[in-house]
Amino acid sequence: MSSASLPFTSPWLLAPMEGVTDPVYRGLVLGLHTPENLGGAFTEFLRISQRPAKVDEVTRHLGTDSSPIPVGLQLMGSDRVRMAESARSAVHAGAALVDINFGCPAKGALKGSAGSSMLKDPDSVQAMVEAIATAVADESGGRVPVTAKMRAGYNDANSVAALAKAVEQGGAKLLTVHCRTRAEGYCQEVDWTRLQTAAQAVSIPVCANGGIEQHGDLERARIETGCAYAMIGRAALGNPWIFSGESVSTGRCARFLIDYWEAIAASPKGTQRGAHGKIKQLLRIWTAGELIPDGAARSTWLRENDPATQLRRLYGLLA
Ligand SMILES: Cc1cc2nc3c(=O)[nH]c(=O)nc-3n(C[C@H](O)[C@H](O)[C@H](O)COP(=O)(O)O)c2cc1C
Repeated sequence: MSSASLPFTSPWLLAPMEGVTDPVYRGLVLGLHTPENLGGAFTEFLRISQRPAKVDEVTRHLGTDSSPIPVGLQLMGSDRVRMAESARSAVHAGAALVDINFGCPAKGALKGSAGSSMLKDPDSVQAMVEAIATAVADESGGRVPVTAKMRAGYNDANSVAALAKAVEQGGAKLLTVHCRTRAEGYCQEVDWTRLQTAAQAVSIPVCANGGIEQHGDLERARIETGCAYAMIGRAALGNPWIFSGESVSTGRCARFLIDYWEAIAASPKGTQRGAHGKIKQLLRIWTAGELIPDGAARSTWLRENDPATQLRRLYGLLA
């Protein structure tokens, strides 16, 4: 089995988020940070169903960012042979690590017995990790680590320790636990004792995820749970500077969103309307830099349908 070590440059990690953390968005967020305040990121999941992913597909998914902050490739699927073959492609595409998704609660994933549906059976989790760890160790000469990301359980969190052990036994070098179960979706309330249970069950490092809302929560999550790493999802969409805790001006926020807008619009299939849609997705949960006015003006921002008007509004804040 592999002796690969984790490539992260600090304990704070950006979560994979499908539909958001594509190469364009990731490149911008990584560019805001030093390797000391953001230790690593993940691609959104690459879904493996009817056939394994080829190297060029994985390369596109990873993007070509030259940041020193490592990016792991996340795979989701239920067929061990196709997943292992795709993991071999990930090694050739230069992925810093290969991560396995055991958390996705979407209907499509459940129907295909992938993502969180595998949490019903720790043995199948272990077998999947083992298949991928063996393929990646073989293909990379033991250089590239395999990691896994799971929810705390399917219907309840009673098996969190057994699932963590299955991931460790399978040969993963890190386990990220999103503390909500599949049944809990994205509920507001979180129970971090589940993270502590997972961390105590295994000797590989565990990454705490779920409900980290502000910079100070990063270290608090590590202290309260005994996890070695902490990962932020949605709060980083609302404040991409959350990893450094830097307080940013309204103008810097507007600059970030304009840069994101322009990068999407300039991408091969990009349109102004598509870019506006992505920006609105971020604006709905934006918290940094007092960017969005309160009250009625807020809904004007969030309900805006005209891309040109929205873009002018952002440019007006650059000063
Ligand atoms: C829009 C969206 C897309 C997501 N896509 C993925 C994904 O591709 N892979 C994955 O493992 N988790 C995915 N997640 C889950 C997040 O990585 C994270 O575990 C979850 O949001 C909990 O962290 P948070 O409370 O900090 O947001 C996604 C979450 C959201 C909101």
